[in-house]
Amino acid sequence: MKNDLILKALWSEPCKRPPVWMMRQAGRYLPEYMAIRSQMSFLELCKNPKKAAEVSVQPYEILGVDAIIMFSDILVPLEPMGAGLDFDTGKPRFVVPTRTPEQISALKDLSSSQIEESCNYVYQTISEIKNLVKNEVPVLGFAGAPWTLASYMIEGGGSKEFAEIKKLMYLNPLAMHELLEKLSNVIAEYLILKLKHGANALQLFDTWASVLTQKDYQEFALPYQQKIIAKIRSQYPTASITLYVNGVANVIDYMMASGANCLSVDWRVNLGEIKEYIDSATANGNAPLMAVQGNFDPCALLGPESRVIDLTLEMLEGMRGKNGYIANLGHGIIPQVPVKNAKAFIDTVKSWS
Ligand code: CP3
Repeated sequence: MKNDLILKALWSEPCKRPPVWMMRQAGRYLPEYMAIRSQMSFLELCKNPKKAAEVSVQPYEILGVDAIIMFSDILVPLEPMGAGLDFDTGKPRFVVPTRTPEQISALKDLSSSQIEESCNYVYQTISEIKNLVKNEVPVLGFAGAPWTLASYMIEGGGSKEFAEIKKLMYLNPLAMHELLEKLSNVIAEYLILKLKHGANALQLFDTWASVLTQKDYQEFALPYQQKIIAKIRSQYPTASITLYVNGVANVIDYMMASGANCLSVDWRVNLGEIKEYIDSATANGNAPLMAVQGNFDPCALLGPESRVIDLTLEMLEGMRGKNGYIANLGHGIIPQVPVKNAKAFIDTVKSWS
């Protein structure tokens, strides 16, 4: 592979400079994405492998990122499980939220071959991307982790308080575990199939697990992350798996126990300090070798460009001399970001020495 920087960094091998990409890099801040998106709905785009591959490759061609994340969404595998999904308002919505034990029991625990069939467009998108870029650059696959997926299913969409999912968790923990268990089985197979179809590394998004107390995180988030990662590694022992939580400060010790070989970190913490904390746990035999990814505040990309450059250099300086670092944002890029600022972020990392 012409550019395998990110694969080296994910395994904490020395790199001449940090690799860089941006979460949600294929998206609405790019006019080229909007041009394709204006012809079809978001879900239609996800289900059209040729077009989904085309938008996946846009940030590689326009911005020169070091990895291509396949265009899709964490919520798409929930559809064949029986949770009806739409994005008609631009935000995800489950028309009938999953809130009762009966609804949870009725969700389909899909087998690997059922997933391969019902999510065929996902796997075809990976093949299309590989055809387009001729294996020049790594393709990343991803999925949502059970807690975060369950939050959308139960709340019916995005949420501030997470009152419905927490209500179910406190009133009926057994039903909650049944749902998380089903989701972890499906997600593990869904990700294994992404590797089978050519993904070069994986990322697991548990974006909203940080709304849990530390005790609840250990009961309702960590065991399912561990289960998914262990199941993937039982078939693909060398698969690279990055874990993202938005709000690592409260849960870093548990993230270190997930089995992931890279932690994706939000902007609220000092990245250099987090890396040193992880490295000292590794040195003491309390954690495996782990890379970090992050953690530029996506809103700092709003400008001005000179400030984007200064803040990017500041982030990089904090990681000087450390192996196992992938430059990225601390969460997904937002639609209001000027393309020239996104480009300044990428270029600053690529020319850093
Ligand atoms: O990173 C990439 O470029 C790959 C594609 C990707 C999307 N969503 C495309 C998308 C990935 C990796 C995701 C992950 C995702 N989706 C997460 C986890 C990471 C995170 O950001 O927290 C979550 C929670 C979702 C759920 C989701 N999808 C929301 C809340 C929304 C609406 C709000 C928003 O930010 O747009 C989406 C829609 C979505 N997913 C869009 C894109 C490009 C915008 C849809 C459009 O084009 O109208």
